[in-house]
Formats: sequence, structure tokens, C-alpha cells
Amino acid sequence: MRQTSVAILGAGSMGTAILAGLLKSGLDASTVTTTVAKTESADALAKKYGVTAYSTEYQPRANLLAATDAKLILLAVKPDKIAALLKEIHDCVSPDALIVSVAAGITTHTIESHLPKGVGVVRAMPNTPAIISKAVTGVAAGKSASAEQVAEAVKLFETVGKVVQIEESQIDALSTISGSGPAYVFFMIETFTKAAIAQGFTPAQAKELVEQTFLGSTLLLEHTHGDPAELRRQVTSPNGTTMKAIAVLEANGLDDIFVQATSAALARAKEIAEGKI
Ligand SMILES: NC(=O)c1ccc[n+]([C@@H]2O[C@H](COP(=O)([O-])OP(=O)(O)OC[C@H]3O[C@@H](n4cnc5c(N)ncnc54)[C@H](OP(=O)(O)O)[C@@H]3O)[C@@H](O)[C@H]2O)c1
Repeated sequence: MRQTSVAILGAGSMGTAILAGLLKSGLDASTVTTTVAKTESADALAKKYGVTAYSTEYQPRANLLAATDAKLILLAVKPDKIAALLKEIHDCVSPDALIVSVAAGITTHTIESHLPKGVGVVRAMPNTPAIISKAVTGVAAGKSASAEQVAEAVKLFETVGKVVQIEESQIDALSTISGSGPAYVFFMIETFTKAAIAQGFTPAQAKELVEQTFLGSTLLLEHTHGDPAELRRQVTSPNGTTMKAIAVLEANGLDDIFVQATSAALARAKEIAEGKI
């Protein structure tokens, strides 16, 4: 990232993951200002990362102070706090600032409507592996964001992993894949571990066997840049034991279950957008 003044408004789990990525990529901590609600959280941020950190508890104008003169403003408070936050910073946002929001379900149109006309807005949907710089983030441009600003947002999220550029109309769908995806993976690990226990292993053995199988397989996929179907075939001898297991998974609808699950998540996103909380 170029050395620019950055404001991270709402430096909680996601905001801090991005902060850590930015600093690791070489951004000078002295150019970053963060805000949080509690003074205790602000003190912890300042101590750990060496950034300026304000709390709204101690300094009610914290967000205004942080956003003033910032060239990149990351909105990382919870979605229900976005409108009030934008109202608070409206008058101090510089016309050439880039606003990047990770708030789920808040459109660029809504954000733009709370800001001075023409300010560039980019919406992004990272996922929790951002904490270890292994996120995959969907990035979508708002109406007034320039190509240069979108490129800057892409660079921002590349500090915590991979980036996929999409149209904003696809962001809810992306959320059902990579946003919610870590939960699907952890659920599979949980259920597979139960199966290992049912096969007679101790919980500790089952944990080791299952977790290392998930980790080892995904790392193998990454290292070989392989096709998962081909890697699967390499473990599946004709008429062997794995083939029998895969046949049971297929017969029980594993092929279709992710389509059904992601469709249910997408339908729920639409309901939430219509105010059916
Ligand atoms: N976590 C995810 O996997 C994920 C994925 C994609 C998108 N997102 C989006 O990221 C955003 C943050 O989620 P999160 O999981 O990081 O939540 P979080 O850990 O609760 O972080 C929210 C932060 O906002 C701070 N805060 C509350 N009110 C504030 C205010 N008025 N001004 C400034 N800061 C304020 C809180 O301060 P304190 O720490 O002092 O309470 C906290 O640090 C949400 O909009 C969410 O939709 C999250």
C-alpha cells in the first residue's frame, strides 16, 4: 500500500485483521487511526499495533477525528451502526477519500446517500480467515468509485488474502459461498469428527485424524494447483473402500446439498434486506 492516511472505524475482529494485514504489507503505523467503542479496546490497539486509537467512550468525536484528512476510510462497525457513523463523519470526509465498507447487507447506494456527492465507495465481503491473512474477499465498486480507487481497495484486501472482483449484485451470493463458507467447513469437521469417534477412536485421536486430513488435503490442493476431482480420483481405487464411501455421500445428496444450503442463505439475505430481521 502507498503511504496514505488510513482510518479504520470500528477496529473489531475484521477491522483489526485488515489493520494487521496493512501493517504487515509495510504501511507505517503512524499513518493509521482506529476507532472503537470502549477505551480498553483502544488502549489494547495502540499498545499492540502502535496506531493512534480513539474510543467513542472517552472521545465522543472519535470517528470524526479519525476520518478527518484520511484518504482511505474503512467502515468496519456492525451494520446497524453504519448510518449513525456516516452521519457523524459526513462533514469531514475529504472529496478524494476512498470509503471501503465491509458491513454486511449495506449497499454502496446507502453509503453514498449518507456522504458528500461523488465520494468513491467500494463494498467488500472478506471472511474470517482474514485473521491469518488467508481470506478471500469479494470486492464490488459503487457508482462513483474510480478504477484507481477500486484497484486501491483490491490492494487493501490482498494484504489479508485473495480477492475476487464482482458486481455488487453478486455480493449476497458471494457471501453464501465464502462469507459463510468457513462455517460450512467447520461443520463438516465437527460431523466428520463424530464419525471418527463412532468408529472407535478417542476424541483426541478423532480430532487429530480429521483436522489433519482437512488441513493436509487443502494444502495438497494448494501446493499442486490440482483439480479436486483428479486429487479425489487418486485416493479412489476402482471398487475399493473409498469408492464405497463416496457412493454413500453421493446417494445421500452431497452433490446437491450445497446448492440447497447456499440458496437458503441467499433467500435469508433477501429477507433481511427487506427488513425481516
Ligand atoms: N467477522 C466476519 O467474519 C465478517 C465478515 C465480513 C464482514 N464483516 C463485517 O465487519 C463488520 C464488523 O464485524 P466484526 O465481526 O469485526 O465485529 P466486532 O468484532 O464486534 O467489531 C466491531 C467494532 O466496532 C466497534 N464499535 C462499536 N461502536 C462503534 C462506534 N460508534 N464507533 C467506532 N467503533 C465502534 C467495537 O468496539 P469495541 O471493541 O470497543 O466494542 C468493535 O471493535 C460488520 O459490519 C460485519 O458485517 C464481518
